This record gives sequence, structure tokens and C-alpha cells, in this order.
Amino acid sequence: MVPRRGRPGGPAAGAVRVRRPRRDRPLIGADAGRGGAGRDRSERTETFRLYGRTMNSATHDEPLTHPHDSHMVITPNILYFGTPVVLLSTENEDGTFNLTPMSSAWALGSTVVLGLGAEGQGAHNLAARPDVVISLPSPEQWRAVERLAPLTGRDPVPAQKRGAFRFEPDKFGAAGLRPEPSELVRPPRVAGCPLQLEARAATVRPDTAGRFLIIETEVLRVHAAPRIVVPGTQHVDPAAWSPLIYNFRHYHGLGPELGRSFRSETPRPRPGEPAPDAGETSRPRPAP
Ligand SMILES: Cc1cc2nc3c(=O)[nH]c(=O)nc-3n(C[C@H](O)[C@H](O)[C@H](O)COP(=O)(O)O)c2cc1C
Repeated sequence: MVPRRGRPGGPAAGAVRVRRPRRDRPLIGADAGRGGAGRDRSERTETFRLYGRTMNSATHDEPLTHPHDSHMVITPNILYFGTPVVLLSTENEDGTFNLTPMSSAWALGSTVVLGLGAEGQGAHNLAARPDVVISLPSPEQWRAVERLAPLTGRDPVPAQKRGAFRFEPDKFGAAGLRPEPSELVRPPRVAGCPLQLEARAATVRPDTAGRFLIIETEVLRVHAAPRIVVPGTQHVDPAAWSPLIYNFRHYHGLGPELGRSFRSETPRPRPGEPAPDAGETSRPRPAP
């Protein structure tokens, strides 16, 4: 938990709480200094010039990991800045099923957008047969994901993958993962993945460079392991669910919760106390 101003106790382990002397506060453009008026404003805002305009910025006494960051310009090969790993089950031309690990996936309402290399088998399958299952593994399953990493369901292996990848017609078997039947679409779910989304590709289009397909899928049914659902609600319990994060080609889980969004509808009862009423779909979790 992030310690709040005025509360007892110091910063969380590993974090640095910084109260910069005023002369060290960021100076962008010509001026920097105190801004605002009235009680306490001098401590809470700073005025600086950016692109010729005067701007005010609220300052918050929060831990900063790198208080004096001055950035360097870099040209990284990849920009995989940490998104959840998903496993896509798609149907091959011969009626068998392929499994593609990927992480360029994000949700908007009931739409999940996927970015897939155009040469891969998953992309070929989705362009021809729109049914898909998006299974989300947990951090403990990272080794199974990594067993899929050097494989492709495409035969022959695309030229740019030769040497590093091999053709594998049975991805489930190679990864040690078990398929289980879906209810609304043809490809199977990945048993053991706590979240499984049955979906259908609605639009498939190339990206501007022509190297990837951008695929919008409509989620038709959500399967969740009971242990990650708040009992009596439709909510995934963020304290029980953790995605497997692909962070610049390294696997990570989530750390402990830092806070919750004001939009969170998940009840958070104290042991023995009823949860606050969080709306129609949320009922208090029974006391343990
Ligand atoms: C954790 C992980 C994340 C990946 N993310 C993506 C991705 O977002 N998009 C993509 O096209 N390939 C991604 N890949 C690479 C594909 O899995 C790889 O190209 C694979 O050979 C595709 O399999 P397929 O040809 O059978 O579909 C990722 C691989 C791993 C292991």
C-alpha cells in the first residue's frame, strides 16, 4: 500500500519518498517556482513554462522511484512494455487446432483486439475461420507458455522464422496443456487457464506496415475459475486473479495491489463485516 501524507510509517520497501527542495523542482523552459494562492497552495502546485506557455502542476507527496530522471533516447528492438500473455486457440484448415501464445491483446468492453504477425498460423486461421478462444494463463503457467515460444503451426516455417522456430502440429501436446471443449465456438479452451474467453473475429485488417494483422474479436462467453470470482457476483476478484505479464520478453506476475480505481465495483469487505453495496451485480462476500 502506498503510504499517505501524514500517516505514520515510512515509504513502502524499495520505494523512495522524495520531498524535493524547491530549487530542485523540475525546471522546464525559463521559470519554475511556487504557484497558486491560499492555504497550503505553495506546497501543492508548481508553475513552469513549457513550449512558451505557463502551466501549473499539482505536486503530490508520493514515492518516486526515480526522482531525478533525465531520460535518454534509445532505439529498442521491441516495445513489449508489459501486457498479459494470452493463448489463442484457432482452427486449422484440416479441422485440427492451433495454439498461439501472444501478448498484443487488449480489451474494450466486450471487444478484444489482437495484433498478430501476418505470417503466423494463428493469423492465417483467423483470417479464414473467425472462431477463437482467448485463454489467459496464470503466472505459474509461464513454462508451458515458453514451451510454445519456439513453435509455429505453419508448415513450411515462414522464411523469417527459419532457424529459430520449428513446425509443430500438436501445440497442446508440446506445451503439456490440455484442450477442453468450448460451448459456442469450435476451437477448444485451454484447461487450467483461469480465464477463457470464447470469441469470434469481427474484423481482420493489416497494420500500416503490412507485417501484422489487427483483429477485433467479439467475446461471446467468459469462463472463469471459481477461485478468481467474488462469490455471489459476476466480478473477477483482482486479489485472486493475476495475469501472466510479458515484460520486454520476460515473464512476470503482478505484485501486491497498490490501490483501486474509482470505477472498481468489487466489494472489499473486512473479515466479519458486510461489504458496502456495490450495485446490482455485486453482493457482499459472505464472511469467512
Ligand atoms: C509470450 C509471448 C508473446 C508473444 N506475443 C506475440 C504477439 O503479441 N503477436 C505476435 O504476432 N506474436 C507473438 N508472439 C510470437 C508468436 O507466438 C510466434 O510467432 C509463434 O510462432 C506464432 O505461432 P503460430 O504461427 O502457430 O500462430 C509471442 C510469443 C510469446 C512466447
